Amino acid sequence: MIELKKNHIYQGDCVEILKILPSHSVDLIFADPPYNMQLKKELYRPNNTKVDGVNDDWDKFSSFSEYDNFCIAWLKECKRVLKDTGTIWVIGSYHNIYRVGNIMLNLGYWILNDVTWHKSNPMPNFLGTRFTNATETLLWCSKGENHKKYTFNHKLMKQYNGGKQMTSVWNIGLCIGKERIKGEDGKKAHSTQKPEELLKRIILSTTKQDDVVLDPFFGTGTTGAVARKLGRNFIGIERENDYIQVAKNRIESIKLLLPESSWVETFKEEQPKVPFVNLVRENIINAGELLYTRRRYSKKAEVLSDGNLHYEDNIGSIHRIGAIIQKTPSCNGWKFWYIFKNNKVLLIDDLRTEYIRGNYIL
Ligand SMILES: C[S@@+](CC[C@H](N)C(=O)[O-])C[C@H]1O[C@@H](n2cnc3c(N)ncnc32)[C@H](O)[C@@H]1O
Repeated sequence: MIELKKNHIYQGDCVEILKILPSHSVDLIFADPPYNMQLKKELYRPNNTKVDGVNDDWDKFSSFSEYDNFCIAWLKECKRVLKDTGTIWVIGSYHNIYRVGNIMLNLGYWILNDVTWHKSNPMPNFLGTRFTNATETLLWCSKGENHKKYTFNHKLMKQYNGGKQMTSVWNIGLCIGKERIKGEDGKKAHSTQKPEELLKRIILSTTKQDDVVLDPFFGTGTTGAVARKLGRNFIGIERENDYIQVAKNRIESIKLLLPESSWVETFKEEQPKVPFVNLVRENIINAGELLYTRRRYSKKAEVLSDGNLHYEDNIGSIHRIGAIIQKTPSCNGWKFWYIFKNNKVLLIDDLRTEYIRGNYIL
C-alpha cells in the first residue's frame, strides 16, 4: 500500500493503482468508465462529414465478458478504498449502465438514486434509425444497505434549486463552447469531456469541504477541476499521458476557488438553452392553448404543435410574434408571453425554469 497523495494524478491502469491505495481512505468516488460502445465502423452524417463519436482505443473490449470482468475488478477495489460513510457515482449510457448496475448490485452496493442526465443539446441520430439519444444515467450508491451515514446536503441542494427539492432528472447541456478543451489542432482534447455543472451537483450534494474525491477514469480532469473550485481534494487515475497533461494544465490554471456564498447563485446563469417547442413536446404547454400579452397590448396567440404561434395572419416563433405585436425589431418571447395554468397567470419563462429544474418532467 502507498500513502494517499491528495490532489495528484496517478498514471496507469486503474485496477492496478486502486489495488495499492489504502482501504477506507476516500469520501466520494466519481467513475466515468469506458462505455464499451462496440462501434464497428465510422459514422458519417448525410452530408458525408465524419461524426466525432467515441471511437477511442480505451473504449474497446474484445467481448462483453472482458468488459464485465474489468468492471468487477475496478468496482471491487473502489468498494475497499471507499470509507464506510462514502458513496460512489457511476455514469454510463444505455450501452453499459445496465451491465455496470448489475455488477454493482452483485458486489453489494446499494442504489440511492439513479439520476438521469437529460442533455438539452444531444447529438442527432444521423441515420434516422432510432430516437435521438438524449440521456445518460448516473447510479449513486452507498457501500451497502446498512451504510446509512453518508453525506447528502439536502438543504444546500434545495437552495441551489431555487427553494425546491431537486429531482433526479438533471437538464444540463453537453460540454461545448469555451468549456470544451481543444488541442493546438483545434480538435477536442477528449471525446467524452463531461460538463462541470454535472460534477458540481455531484460534489456539492455528496461531499463536505476538504473531503477527498477519487476519479479512476480521470480523462481531462473535470472531477479534479470542480473539486478544487469547491474546496475539496481529488485523486485522479488515468492511463493516457496526453489526457494527464490536459488535466494538469486545466487544474493548475484554476486561480480562484468558488466562494461558498456563490455556490448556489450560479445555477440560473448556467441554465441550458431550451427551445419553446420542447415545452410543447413535453405537454407542459399544449398545442391549441392560448398565450397572452400583458394588458398594454392585450393580444393573444394560439400555440401550434411545432412550437410556433399563430397570431392573426402571422405564424412565427414566440420571439417573432412578440416583435410584430410590439413593432420592434426583436423581442424576448420568454419574458413577453403569459399563459393561464391552474387558474394562475404565469410567465412562460417561469414554466421554462421549472422545466429546466426537472420539476415538470416526471
Ligand atoms: C469516459 S472517459 C472519462 C472522461 C472524464 N470524465 C472527463 O470529463 O474528461 C474514460 C477515461 O478513462 C481512461 N481509461 C480507460 N481505461 C482505463 C484504465 N483501465 N485505467 C485508467 N484509465 C482508463 C480513458 O483513457 C479515458 O480518458
